[in-house]
Amino acid sequence: MTTHETRSPGGLILPQYGSDDQSHPALNTPEYRSTALRYPKQPLQYLPQYLTEVTGPLLGQDRCGEHDHDLTVQHDDEPLGERIIVGGRVLDSGGKPVPNTLVEIWQANSAGRYRHQGDRHPAPLDRNFSGSGRCMTDSDGNYKFITIKPGAYPWRNHDNAWRPAHIHFSLFGQAFTQRLITQMYFPGDPLCYQDPIFNSVRDEQARERMISRFDLDTTVPEWALSYKFDIVLRGLEGSVFEDEEEEDD
Ligand SMILES: [Fe+2]
Repeated sequence: MTTHETRSPGGLILPQYGSDDQSHPALNTPEYRSTALRYPKQPLQYLPQYLTEVTGPLLGQDRCGEHDHDLTVQHDDEPLGERIIVGGRVLDSGGKPVPNTLVEIWQANSAGRYRHQGDRHPAPLDRNFSGSGRCMTDSDGNYKFITIKPGAYPWRNHDNAWRPAHIHFSLFGQAFTQRLITQMYFPGDPLCYQDPIFNSVRDEQARERMISRFDLDTTVPEWALSYKFDIVLRGLEGSVFEDEEEEDD
């Protein structure tokens, strides 16, 4: 993600996206049909951050319950599917860890179904899986979730359209107005090549940064495979973030 940084009156560094950016998705991506309905038709306006935005309530540790990071123990029994560990570090553009920042995820269950009334995919819900979790990064920027590998699901964007397995991520920076959203994919997924959301990121290396890495070192023997997904908030090695409000696509 190529960004140009701007210092706001509040002293924070805000990312700005160049219109010729090959790694940040275009606001209107015709292959991803619903972007035509919601992309801004007017030039974006810079909204300076003042003291209210910078010092407003931060979503922190007090928002995280005991089981929020473990999506497999939030109900009476374990959910169905392949248990996995998803972890990594949140870093800034200089490689410095971002501690104490809220990381949230949401995802479909192992059958590719969201617990959401708008999801009409004829696949079973799992009464033991809600599909959302959150945790704080530690002092070294580490986060970790235990969850179930999500299933692929159809989404009617085009003929025979299927979303690759993915997990949605949301991150809060130093202020509420800095919230960033992205998606994590799995290595070797055969559906990525035909997915307009994945391919809306035109730069190949940037697309690769949306794919997690299988990690044998943190795989727990006889219990769960582990995937690593580092998130870099800015810079040439930055993760790819969405401009839109969160979507279940
Ligand atoms: Fe999704």
